[in-house]
Amino acid sequence: MSLKKLFDLTGHTALITGSTRGLGLSYAEGLAEAGATIIVNGTRDDGVAHAVEALSAKGHRAFGKAFDVGNEASIVAAFEAFDREGHEIDILINNAGVQFRKPMVELAVEDWSRVLDVNLTGSFLVAREAAKRMIARKRGGKIVNIASLTSAAGRATVAPYTAAKGAITAITRTMAVEWAPHGIQSNAIGPGYILTEMNEALSENKEFDAWVRASNPSGRWGKPEELVGAAIFLSSPASDYINGQTLYVDGGWLAQL
Ligand SMILES: NC(=O)c1ccc[n+]([C@@H]2O[C@H](COP(=O)([O-])OP(=O)(O)OC[C@H]3O[C@@H](n4cnc5c(N)ncnc54)[C@H](OP(=O)(O)O)[C@@H]3O)[C@@H](O)[C@H]2O)c1
Repeated sequence: MSLKKLFDLTGHTALITGSTRGLGLSYAEGLAEAGATIIVNGTRDDGVAHAVEALSAKGHRAFGKAFDVGNEASIVAAFEAFDREGHEIDILINNAGVQFRKPMVELAVEDWSRVLDVNLTGSFLVAREAAKRMIARKRGGKIVNIASLTSAAGRATVAPYTAAKGAITAITRTMAVEWAPHGIQSNAIGPGYILTEMNEALSENKEFDAWVRASNPSGRWGKPEELVGAAIFLSSPASDYINGQTLYVDGGWLAQL
């Protein structure tokens, strides 16, 4: 296969959850440049419309659908709308995620559950709806779940996030095993500390910023565009025999003792 074909996404449709800004929007721009039609998602209609406009202005083919990945009915309704509108999703990036920081001894079960609902159960439900249709179409597909450094290491005050992201790597393996016979590859990306809105307060905190720079062999935060290569790779024919893996894009953080 030619180099161009290995990474070519022409003719494919990618749903990227949580793509109105941050890493999701970077994945959307990258996959669109590789030729994919993009479906943008977020919870707010105006955010979705704005991202679709930005992608379209760059000449990309983009559509949008606002739905809450923390709500099963909202996910099922979105996929029924995709069926009616003729969107055949064969690439899913399960990116929508939220963070909530509190010491575990003060953590209410409602806050624990909300983070699990969005980051873990949401990824399962969106993948379930996408895979059901990929299997019926018999043309395979790609699922990319978004993990984190906390999939592999503990961190104080973010218990529900670590629980969700640890489980993301586990269900990625199960998706790979269960759906490989249908030509679907399921993998995950584990971003390090990347400068997005989610981390704005942390990057502005001098102590935290210094800790990130000192703990990381690269000595700096990552940039959203530095995740794009991994997203295109795991969405493209170049990764057709890679299944169930988590690819950490962290500047070497986890490689260091
Ligand atoms: N930034 C990092 O350093 C980092 C590191 C490791 C992992 N990650 C993971 O990467 C993903 C994206 O992070 P980010 O930093 O780009 O976050 P972000 O800047 O906070 O953006 C989050 C995106 O998710 C959407 N979203 C939030 N809740 C949603 C829901 N219930 N349903 C649908 N969409 C929802 C938001 O849209 P609305 O505002 O419209 O809801 C927005 O588009 C997350 O899974 C995060 O855990 C990030």
